[in-house]
Amino acid sequence: MTRANPICVAIDTPDLARARALVTALRGSVGYVKLGMEFFYAQGAAGYAAIAGAGIPVFLDLKLHDIPNTVEQGLRSLMALAPAPAILNVHATGGLDMMTAARSAVPASTKLIAVTILTSLSDDNIRAAGFDPARQTAAHALNLARLAGQAGLDGIVCSPLDLEGVRKELGRDFLTVVPGIRPADTAANDQKRIATPQAAMAAGADILVIGRAITGAADPAQAARAILADLS
Ligand code: C5P
Repeated sequence: MTRANPICVAIDTPDLARARALVTALRGSVGYVKLGMEFFYAQGAAGYAAIAGAGIPVFLDLKLHDIPNTVEQGLRSLMALAPAPAILNVHATGGLDMMTAARSAVPASTKLIAVTILTSLSDDNIRAAGFDPARQTAAHALNLARLAGQAGLDGIVCSPLDLEGVRKELGRDFLTVVPGIRPADTAANDQKRIATPQAAMAAGADILVIGRAITGAADPAQAARAILADLS
């Protein structure tokens, strides 16, 4: 059986022509395209439709974080997009009630996942933000993953370093979407809790979110294929 391509390329640009060129170049080399706030705030529903129409499933990474009613209604508005996003997300720190409300707005045909702890946050950043300093960052991420599971969400976004506990406790069917991926010899940039593609897959990642290591390469399709080859 051939395994699905786990690479989700982050198209982090406000520019429609650049996004289109990347998607055209990467068709066949990635499993998903991720559009985030940088693109969506600049290009809106029409820009989304132009990219989603290319046929690669889209993870629309808008990370909603507000009171339950606002998040629920915001997601209802997003479900009017065509074709519907394959994956949408909210912040797990919005709480159980918010995530439950979010779930009610998103049909099972779109995966709804929760961001646990951003991969750009170091242990020191987490303490400075007021999380219990006696607990490891992975324990905070696991706690938020539990809440997401209780709310009926399909899975989480987490650091590769948080995967082990999540897999043990939430099982194989809980979707793990994992940014902070850096092939060996590439720059960490603003990411702190990172791993290589191979290490993340070995720890149980389902989908690898990879941005600059692919989009910043001279030949993005070749960079994606090289990562895929290393994984097989
Ligand atoms: O370029 P790089 O591979 O660091 O891109 C990572 C992408 O994953 C960015 O689009 C970023 O918004 C996203 N992301 C993240 N950490 C999270 C959730 C999403 O880096 N916890």
